[in-house]
Amino acid sequence: MSDPDNTPRVRPWQTVVLTLFPELFPGPLGASLLGDALEAGLWSLEAIGLREFGSGRHKSVDDTPAGGGAGMVMRADVLGAAFDAARARHADLPAIYLSPRGELLTQDLVRELAAGPGVLLLAGRYEGVDQRVIEARNLREVSIGDYVLAGGEVAAMVLIEAAVRLLPGVLGQPASLGEETFEAGLLEYPQYTRPRDWEGRPIPDVLLSGDHARVARWRRAEAERLTRERRPDLLARSRRKPQ
Ligand code: 6GU
Repeated sequence: MSDPDNTPRVRPWQTVVLTLFPELFPGPLGASLLGDALEAGLWSLEAIGLREFGSGRHKSVDDTPAGGGAGMVMRADVLGAAFDAARARHADLPAIYLSPRGELLTQDLVRELAAGPGVLLLAGRYEGVDQRVIEARNLREVSIGDYVLAGGEVAAMVLIEAAVRLLPGVLGQPASLGEETFEAGLLEYPQYTRPRDWEGRPIPDVLLSGDHARVARWRRAEAERLTRERRPDLLARSRRKPQ
């Protein structure tokens, strides 16, 4: 408690997830350093089952799309009731609907969210949710990448994991945050550890030289080479926005 690096925040970073599958949480978020931080109260998690808000005797949560077509759409009345119940207890949290047609989740957006009080997430299933909920409750739509998942739960976990690891006190080595991929606008340089020779592959000499300036130059050059080869789009961005 007296360790200044370990001082808990006044209030945990709050995550609230509306989902048909609350039993999926915390899942991988309960392991390792994030799980420890959850137990320590650095962040909190509340998974709310949408089925409880279902309509009628069968607690129905979805229906066929207006206008016809394949699949099912999650009902506006059910989602609205669930969202409003969560919102009443979490008035300050930004509300996000995880959806493949949302704006891309970037490290910039992750940093923005981690700097706030937490997130209120809606994870959809089926073909999507009734458009009126998104509009009426002013949900920010966020996608984790250009591919399609079966539902928003894994995407919600991705967003939460990316943000929680940035919270003060969650990672063991905060110094490593600034150097990693995306924070510097470059892909990360290659890492090595023992053994010094493995299957005829030695660790690059420069890393064993003890010359910290040379090591730093080599890492920077490797990061730039990898970024040029694999993600030239990032290199263009890091030139425009030096960090
Ligand atoms: Cl947030 N949801 C789904 N269903 N698919 C996705 C996604 C989200 N992001 C990328 N693909």
